[in-house]
Amino acid sequence: MDRRELLMVGPLAAAAAAEIEKDVIVHRYWEAADKPALLASIADRVTLVATSGHHGCSADIMEALPKLELIASFGVGYDAVDVAAARRHGIRVTNTPDVLNDCVAEMTLALMLAACHRIPQADRYVRDGLWPSANFPLTPELTGRTVGILGLGRIGKEIARRLQVFKMQVVYHGRHRQEHEPFPYYADLAEMARDVDWLVVIAPGSASTSGIVSRAVMQALGPEGTLVNMARGSLVDEPAMIELLTSGALGGAALDVFANEPEVPAALRALPNVVLSPHQGSATHKTRAAMGATVVANLRAHMRGDPLVSPVA
Ligand code: DGY
Repeated sequence: MDRRELLMVGPLAAAAAAEIEKDVIVHRYWEAADKPALLASIADRVTLVATSGHHGCSADIMEALPKLELIASFGVGYDAVDVAAARRHGIRVTNTPDVLNDCVAEMTLALMLAACHRIPQADRYVRDGLWPSANFPLTPELTGRTVGILGLGRIGKEIARRLQVFKMQVVYHGRHRQEHEPFPYYADLAEMARDVDWLVVIAPGSASTSGIVSRAVMQALGPEGTLVNMARGSLVDEPAMIELLTSGALGGAALDVFANEPEVPAALRALPNVVLSPHQGSATHKTRAAMGATVVANLRAHMRGDPLVSPVA
């Protein structure tokens, strides 16, 4: 039987890519100089796509690959896949949930601690030899502060548990109150932002969450507040955020994600009250390997005709 063919849209974890190559012929889209020509040359054979991060799958790619059956997404967020188009074309979509919950929660804490205790500035201060001649400024602490979580899903709950260990008060906002959660619920995001010191954004990127962290929400968070975005840049009004951080109307930010990755606006990079990270939420050896294994498991299940491991459409 002919080997199946797969379009790999962006780079995957090396072990996963090697596993996939055992089973199928792989075409590397992100490396192709002439992408339309690549698509045209494989259109009659490719039945599988693997996406990764912002290397997603648009309706155009789906339309160029009429035999496409499955899009296996590397990541829990699949906003870079046009799921509505996939449904229209009868294409299944999978993601890699759960295996990254602990890692993203840990990274959230890392960024919060870095922002709160000004770790990047402290590191620079010591390296620059300033320690003997000046005092490093005092900082706030997380202990006793209130944190609002936007999106108390599986990752949000792991974050909440860790923040409780830091003796923080946890409240949350989402589409619905969750009956079995002990944390106070806010139906209104701006109202929650007014009452918290930290706002942690960990809701999925989608049309319904786009721009949800609006100028008004960030103004409500205020000069003493810090915004932490671990979700997607699309959830935050980035120009308004930069303006408010610059004027001091918003106290600070710890950002792992940006509106137009991998571009980060120069005005944001220049600000002293932000900690920036290049979308590292799930970027550990262990977690990326587990995410890759989930992609492989979904592809193999599909090829065997078994139920998919983690379907989203
Ligand atoms: C995800 O899984 O959606 C993460 O953003 C990838 O790092």
